Amino acid sequence: MNTYARPSLVLSHGKGSYLYDTDGKEYLDFTAGISVMALGHGNSEIAAVISDQASKLVHCSNLYHNIWAPQLASDIVEATMAAYPHGTQGIYAKPASGKSPAQVFFSNSGTEANEGALKFARKYGKHVAESGVLGRGTSEALRGDPNLKCNIVSFTNGFHGRTMGALSVTANPKYQKPFTPLIPGVQTAKFNASSQIGAFVDERTCAVIVEPIQGEGGIHAAQIDFLRALRHRCDQVGALLIYDEIQCGLGRSGKLWAHQLYPEDCSPDMLTMAKPLANGIPIGAILVSDKVAGLIKVGEHGTTFGGNPLACRVGCTVLSHITKPEFLKHVQDAGLLLEQELQQALAPFVGKQVVELRGGGLLRGIQFSSDPTPIIDLARDRGLLLVGAGGNTVRLVPPLNISFADIKRGASIIADCVNCHFSRGQHP
Ligand SMILES: Cc1ncc(COP(=O)(O)O)c(C=O)c1O
Repeated sequence: MNTYARPSLVLSHGKGSYLYDTDGKEYLDFTAGISVMALGHGNSEIAAVISDQASKLVHCSNLYHNIWAPQLASDIVEATMAAYPHGTQGIYAKPASGKSPAQVFFSNSGTEANEGALKFARKYGKHVAESGVLGRGTSEALRGDPNLKCNIVSFTNGFHGRTMGALSVTANPKYQKPFTPLIPGVQTAKFNASSQIGAFVDERTCAVIVEPIQGEGGIHAAQIDFLRALRHRCDQVGALLIYDEIQCGLGRSGKLWAHQLYPEDCSPDMLTMAKPLANGIPIGAILVSDKVAGLIKVGEHGTTFGGNPLACRVGCTVLSHITKPEFLKHVQDAGLLLEQELQQALAPFVGKQVVELRGGGLLRGIQFSSDPTPIIDLARDRGLLLVGAGGNTVRLVPPLNISFADIKRGASIIADCVNCHFSRGQHP
């Protein structure tokens, strides 16, 4: 179907941070399949794991246990908890029983992870309404009709996916308008506007969903006070805080999770992930705090492919790399190098054609004063793949294990293209 606008080239293979088309032309890949190929293309270790697992067991459905889904779930929980071992908030709160503080549901994509999180929040909303723990007047109304605690708050410039629930919390008319009516009870508040939180998040809210660093919306990081205020307000009104880390998570920010760049009192109750978790094999997951996971009963949610041993085993391998301190240090250093190179090379344009350089780790954005599509096209001609984001922004999301030399090379091609486009106002 005609759902994607694509250039005519056809890609045939890749190695590391490079892709090759069927004519043999080489491209340095600053898109990484839109933040997916964290360990690069044609990764021989990943290929060996896929091959070995494919010859053993690809899929057996969730009718039966397999070895790798619980392994990946416990790896995710363990690696996450290591950031705040004495944490008390959201997913870091330790249940009294000594059980795991969080549990995992596996899906097949980011949007499916968000759908699950929204469903779990709906169930949690009913539970809070029925338990009558909120203020007296509110409790009576909600106890009378627990479905009233069903509202979801999301934010301007957020992106959460294309399926009906995820689309309903993605406040972009281009994506939403053709498919209205959407799910009811969704309100859009302004990202980073802490003062608006009280008005939007109330006793009828069951969930707030937000990206700690917005990707598709143009690489905008949440302010600490904003996330802290969301955490506080969610606790006040018995709503769940969902962090969508599908793009900014799993090492891209230079931490395992982008929210771990923030203090622990900014922690979520649920965390959704997908893109790089299995380096290109489709997978998604929801990390769910114990207090929420305990409410979901057998048969209430499910999927055929989610948690299959192939994707989960690859996920274990990817996670074993991404969680290494030296790997995350590399992401931070490569990100800083990219920032320095771009700042230097684009200095003559900053404040004019270049509005701002933004982001952290290897999730960076260059905001232009006009549509950057000609620059993206020019870069492709010169062998560098870039992807756009909201608000005239070019997104830079290379593989996380990209070399410093390739960071410099990419920055220099970008600078050439910007120079060429704005200085001469024409293509070469
Ligand atoms: C933050 C965020 N959430 C959700 C999604 C949807 O993920 P998927 O395309 O795997 O459904 C994306 C995809 O770009 C994303 O960036």
